[in-house]
Amino acid sequence: ADVFTYDPGFTSTAACESAITYIDGDKGELLYRGYPIEQLAAKSHFLEACYLLLFGELPTKAEMVDFEHRVTNHTMVHEQMHNFFRGFRRDSHPMATMVGVVGAMSAFYHDSLDINDPWQREVAAIRMIAKLPTIAAMAYKYSVGQPFVYPKNSLNYAGNFLHMCFAVPAEDYVVNPILSKAMDRIMMLHADHEQNASTSTVRLAGSSGANPFACIAAGIACLWGPAHGGANQACLEMLREIGTVDRIPEYIARAKDKDDPFRLMGFGHRVYKNFDPRATVMKESADEVLELMGIHNNPTLQVAKELERIALEDDYFISKKLYPNVDFYSGIILDAMGFPTSMFTPIFALSRTVGWISQWREMIADPTQKIGRPRQLYIGKAHRDYVPVANR
Ligand code: CMC
Repeated sequence: ADVFTYDPGFTSTAACESAITYIDGDKGELLYRGYPIEQLAAKSHFLEACYLLLFGELPTKAEMVDFEHRVTNHTMVHEQMHNFFRGFRRDSHPMATMVGVVGAMSAFYHDSLDINDPWQREVAAIRMIAKLPTIAAMAYKYSVGQPFVYPKNSLNYAGNFLHMCFAVPAEDYVVNPILSKAMDRIMMLHADHEQNASTSTVRLAGSSGANPFACIAAGIACLWGPAHGGANQACLEMLREIGTVDRIPEYIARAKDKDDPFRLMGFGHRVYKNFDPRATVMKESADEVLELMGIHNNPTLQVAKELERIALEDDYFISKKLYPNVDFYSGIILDAMGFPTSMFTPIFALSRTVGWISQWREMIADPTQKIGRPRQLYIGKAHRDYVPVANR
């Protein structure tokens, strides 16, 4: 019989070669195409990082202008998609709506489905980067019963997303530059993260030759889980459930209890065992946004700060190398910006879309690429003969 290596959770299996993102979990280092995330977060902006992730190099001025033009040209969704949205229940989770709508893009954009045509692959990539914020904002507007807001292409990528979420007809909405900068940074920090669960899902789906819209929909579905992108929503809901600082010890005790499945959301990471460099940048942003919004000491924030302090000093967390991750701080910022918790994971999804599509393009362009087909260690019954029902 064949012999296979058993590696549950793929803790030691490289599934592909990739030149896009590098993580050193011990050093707490994250590089997009070689550039440190701290430098990109401080000096670059999300669309420039999109170009970098997609094409491998930072754009020249002219390349950036052209790329921005191409993205803004695709920000609207087909008008008929509005009807598609209306088929969902009002109270649908925006992630549920997004899985459906993004999957349905392959029913609308037939001229970018041919995966063997490099130009069509590029158009599909640009379409998704351009349309995901529109789709996420529409999912939000639909859930709160407000009219959809069309994209405003004179705004930058992050500003336009805030506009589509928070503008209402007949009122002037002016995007606050600090909030738009904070949103851009959230997008930047989530843009790619090598072979995480959702990216691996996109690659596996794509390895069969499935169309890119279907592959990204699969990635969104995987991201939704609370151990992955769903952690940002779960974390803020946990902070609210804890409610007051005096109840923290009870939750810490539960997290340590082996018989209790409870985990502290927003803590821990498969790869980062020292600190999550994204969390460090996100924490700075959180301070800026809270200051701007005049939020100094609300109960959720008090719980977050105290939990962070205790976890960083507690033996259990130190020995298991559990540090606050990116989702711990992003939820605090998004909450302060006025987003409901149900929008946290859709914002992660729209930000990660560029990473997913860059990884998908890299895979499709690789001539050695094969269908992803893991094997198993069979632990079921050995061969046995069928027994007619009368004899069982
Ligand atoms: N709270 C309490 N204990 C924890 C936690 C936590 N958040 N995370 C890990 N542990 C313990 C776990 O019980 C295990 O203990 P033991 O060795 O005694 O069995 C040990 O630490 C190792 O955990 P693991 O599940 O083997 O680690 P993993 O690498 O498979 O999981 C993780 C990584 C992120 C899924 C996990 O830390 C977790 O569930 N964290 C909470 C959810 C979360 O915040 N996810 C977001 C991750 S960052 C962004 C993203 O990917 O979306």
